[in-house]
Amino acid sequence: MKIGVLGAGAVGSFLGGLLALRYGPENVILVGRGAHAETVRTRGYLVLSARGKVHKIPVRFELDPRNLAETNLVIFCVKSHATAEALHQAQPYLQNATLVVIQNGICDYLFSERIPQDRLVAGTTAINVAITAPGELALQLDGFTMLGPMFPQAVQAARAATDVLAGGGLRAFFTPEIHGIRYTKLGINAVGYVSCLSASNFISEGLLCREWRRRIAIPLLQEILGVYQAAGIQPRPIPGRSSLTGLARVCRTLDLPVIGNFLGWGLRRLFDRRPIIFSLYQDLLAGKKTEVDYIHGEIVRLAKLANQPAPLCELVINLVHELEKKPPGTFFTREEVIDRFSAAGVAPLSGGPAPRKE
Ligand SMILES: NC(=O)c1ccc[n+]([C@@H]2O[C@H](COP(=O)([O-])OP(=O)(O)OC[C@H]3O[C@@H](n4cnc5c(N)ncnc54)[C@H](OP(=O)(O)O)[C@@H]3O)[C@@H](O)[C@H]2O)c1
Repeated sequence: MKIGVLGAGAVGSFLGGLLALRYGPENVILVGRGAHAETVRTRGYLVLSARGKVHKIPVRFELDPRNLAETNLVIFCVKSHATAEALHQAQPYLQNATLVVIQNGICDYLFSERIPQDRLVAGTTAINVAITAPGELALQLDGFTMLGPMFPQAVQAARAATDVLAGGGLRAFFTPEIHGIRYTKLGINAVGYVSCLSASNFISEGLLCREWRRRIAIPLLQEILGVYQAAGIQPRPIPGRSSLTGLARVCRTLDLPVIGNFLGWGLRRLFDRRPIIFSLYQDLLAGKKTEVDYIHGEIVRLAKLANQPAPLCELVINLVHELEKKPPGTFFTREEVIDRFSAAGVAPLSGGPAPRKE
């Protein structure tokens, strides 16, 4: 068994590096591009910082997707907006390989146009990893990687791929609920990404701000859950993490007098120390294209199919595209984002006393 990784940036290098440790660098081929790829290819090893320790992991890193022709299983980790191009380049060399797609965005139709459905495995990972310098990775949060069939014909491929990843030392498991889990993650990211528009801490400057919660989080969550219902999608909780209804419950509880204050205090303590850094924020900061068209864009696509409106997701897409056109690191103020949501004509959905500054 030879394993490939296509789009070996942060996630791909981490997963590929761990697999190379277990299966040997000669059996795991990482394919990527840019300064990170050039550095690892020249040096022959990755530097991984995890849990206070630094590891040097020998890997085979290539720049040409032709090298994937040797593989039976390819982990596909380019960002969603690079999917079509990467698939186009690699498809001639994928032969009969199973593709394990690990992305936050959802664009399954792009895969099924090119790869037989019985070879398409969908994945989602709860790890958080970043490239801190070319050739260097930092694991910020460890977690499970969940795999399942992207289409019903791929159950066997998904089980086999899970065995390979778990056998390689990754915390991977198979789930038939992968679709619902992916859509939960998509929905949570869709709300969290709004905090990136103003470079705000999602918890302490977003959810814990009553106006942000009432004008943005709650209406957006309701829009997303409404679209999912109309599209026949059942979001499933992410094991060990959150669910969309759980997030909605937190928003409602924060409005309650005593228990809300207590919950807010606990959340602030936790997330001021360990803020959630969304990739959309990192992309805006670096002046890179974001995945918004495959996060909020996927919800808008589902809404259109179900004849439903999704004005707030459309608004987020427009706001992100506005920022993408500005110099890197340009953001709105939080109040500007709240105003733009208010102007979208959606009334605040939570009751409670008049808004106060938090
Ligand atoms: N990082 C995380 O902690 C994390 C956690 C959960 C999920 N995810 C999801 O996992 C996916 C990957 O994220 P990431 O953070 O690993 O992104 P990333 O660091 O940008 O890695 C993707 C890599 O693929 C390269 N690439 C793009 N097109 C390519 C092509 N045609 N051929 C070869 N290489 C190509 C990119 O190069 P360029 O930069 O030149 O385009 C980049 O180096 C995303 O969907 C993300 O949302 C990430």
